[in-house]
Amino acid sequence: MQRAVKIAPSILSADFARLGEEVQAVTAAGADYIHIDVMDGHFVPNITIGPSVVKALRGHSDRPFDVHLMIAPVDPYVEAFAEAGADIITVHPEAGAHLHRTLQLIRGCGKKAGVSLNPATPVEAIENVIGDVDLILVMSVNPGFGGQKFIESQLAKIERVRAMIDATGRHIDLEVDGGIDPETAPRAIAAGADVLVAGTATFRGGPGAYADNIRALRGNHS
Ligand code: DX5
Ligand code: ZN
Repeated sequence: MQRAVKIAPSILSADFARLGEEVQAVTAAGADYIHIDVMDGHFVPNITIGPSVVKALRGHSDRPFDVHLMIAPVDPYVEAFAEAGADIITVHPEAGAHLHRTLQLIRGCGKKAGVSLNPATPVEAIENVIGDVDLILVMSVNPGFGGQKFIESQLAKIERVRAMIDATGRHIDLEVDGGIDPETAPRAIAAGADVLVAGTATFRGGPGAYADNIRALRGNHS
């Protein structure tokens, strides 16, 4: 089955001194979502941005803000990201004791709820909440940094998640994040992904290259 593929540039690889312009540039270059990686130096060994930056960027793009929270605890911050302008809020099962409650909290804010599987996290972790999610993110690197190598073993997981989603009969985004480039993108798509996060592969070469970079990730898929 041919699926439309969405590209979600991760602004982690953008020029942080010019973040507003960078978000505008990838929007003009064809980004479908703007992927925003939020890290706390505790759940993952890196610190990035908070709700005030999301809010500041909101006026720079009309695309959905796909906010990937790599923070623990996560519940106390969901509302702040929702108010800042997130459209999709994705959390990790390990980031709190009650995943179902966290997903309800996100939806209660009127936002789409996503759940993310680390490379070592089994698909069973989301089996009982699949009815409560709008997006499933398969991490193809360990979360924390851009520019890492795609972990091959996650292709089989993408296939399993695709089968789980299809069995629901609902549309749920299947997003893959980490090490996506023109070589790995078609393999992730073939395994069942329909949203590709790409930081390094989008932002390399500077603004003049963004449209070509995004096109290269779509391959033959629209
Ligand atoms: C890693 C982040 C990714 C990362 C992807 O923790 O969730 O979104 O920025 O970067 P690349 O595309 O460079 O692997
Ligand atoms: Zn991410």
